Amino acid sequence: MGHQRWKAAVVTLSDKGYTGEREDKSGPLICEMLKNAGYDILKTVLLPDDKEEIKKCLYKLCDDIKADIVFTTGGTGFAPRDCTPEATLAVATRNAPGIAEAMRLASLKVTPRAMLSRGVSVIRNQTLIINLPGSPKAVKENLDAVLPTLDHGLAILTGQAGECGRDFAELPQNEKI
Ligand code: MTE
Repeated sequence: MGHQRWKAAVVTLSDKGYTGEREDKSGPLICEMLKNAGYDILKTVLLPDDKEEIKKCLYKLCDDIKADIVFTTGGTGFAPRDCTPEATLAVATRNAPGIAEAMRLASLKVTPRAMLSRGVSVIRNQTLIINLPGSPKAVKENLDAVLPTLDHGLAILTGQAGECGRDFAELPQNEKI
């Protein structure tokens, strides 16, 4: 990582995970990938697919706990109760669509079903919020596509990098999508 150890929070949205009918494997996988990339995990949360609960949780993680970045997993599909993107958009102060676009672009090379994730990426004040789909496979594929580039975005968002003056040729290979 080029800057500091970013403070991350991970939120799993799953009715079945919340009631204990299904083990949450995606939240722990995100934590493991983030730790390997040098992030500190401030908090992990498991919630049902309830828009108001999700909004309340996002407000807390952004405004009180002041995470630099919040990842959600699950609730991005077409099922009637899937509402993670709507809850995320409701707390956003600015849009940051490129991250979700990059994840879908990479994921479509793996499966056409990637088009069925409605996940969004937004900013709330100084926190970046990124929706990932629910399955561990999808989590890995989506996170692999964007993780190397997030450090630069977070540095700019938090005022630790002021400009993007580096020549594209200087970027590490894994930053070239
Ligand atoms: N993206 C990747 N990279 N790999 C996948 O296997 N699964 C898709 C999609 N995105 C998938 C993916 C499927 S099948 C669905 S239904 C949507 O994510 C929504 O998933 P969610 O409802 O668990 O959030």
